[in-house]
Amino acid sequence: MSVALPVLKQPRLASSFWDDVRADFPVLHQNVGNKPLIYLDNAATTHKPRAVIDVLARFYQQDNSNVHRGLHALSMRSTDGYEAARIRSAKFINAAEPEEIVFTRGTTESINLVAQSWGAANLKKGDVVLIT
Ligand SMILES: Cc1ncc(COP(=O)(O)O)c(C=O)c1O
Repeated sequence: MSVALPVLKQPRLASSFWDDVRADFPVLHQNVGNKPLIYLDNAATTHKPRAVIDVLARFYQQDNSNVHRGLHALSMRSTDGYEAARIRSAKFINAAEPEEIVFTRGTTESINLVAQSWGAANLKKGDVVLIT
C-alpha cells in the first residue's frame, strides 16, 4: 500500500516584504556599478536600519557619556539605556537573566572570551572543538 504524502512547499514571503526590509537600510538606496547595491560582507561590518541610525544619532546628540562611570545626568541616561538594551537582548534570546548578556566589540573578542572563560574551565587536552 502506498500513501500519498502531501508536497510541502517552502513558505515564501512576498517580494514586497523584502522590498520593505531593504527600504529600512538607507545604505542600500544606492547603485554601485549601475546596479542596486547588494551587500554580503555582514560578518565584517553590518549595515544599520533607519531605526538604529536614528537612535544612535539621538544618543550622540543628547546623551553621549560614559556608562557605569559617572554620576551626572548624561552618564545616568547612558547607563540606563545600556542596561535597558541588556534586558531587551535577554528577553529576545530568552536568556534566564539579563546578567547573562555580555556585550563585546565583535566576533573575535566574543570567541576569545568564550575560549578563555568557558573553554578554560571545561576543555581539556585532546578535546576536539568543531567550528564552522
Ligand atoms: C567572515 C568574518 N568573520 C569574522 C570576522 C571578525 O569579526 P570582528 O571584527 O567582529 O571580530 C570578520 C571580520 O572582518 C569576517 O570578515
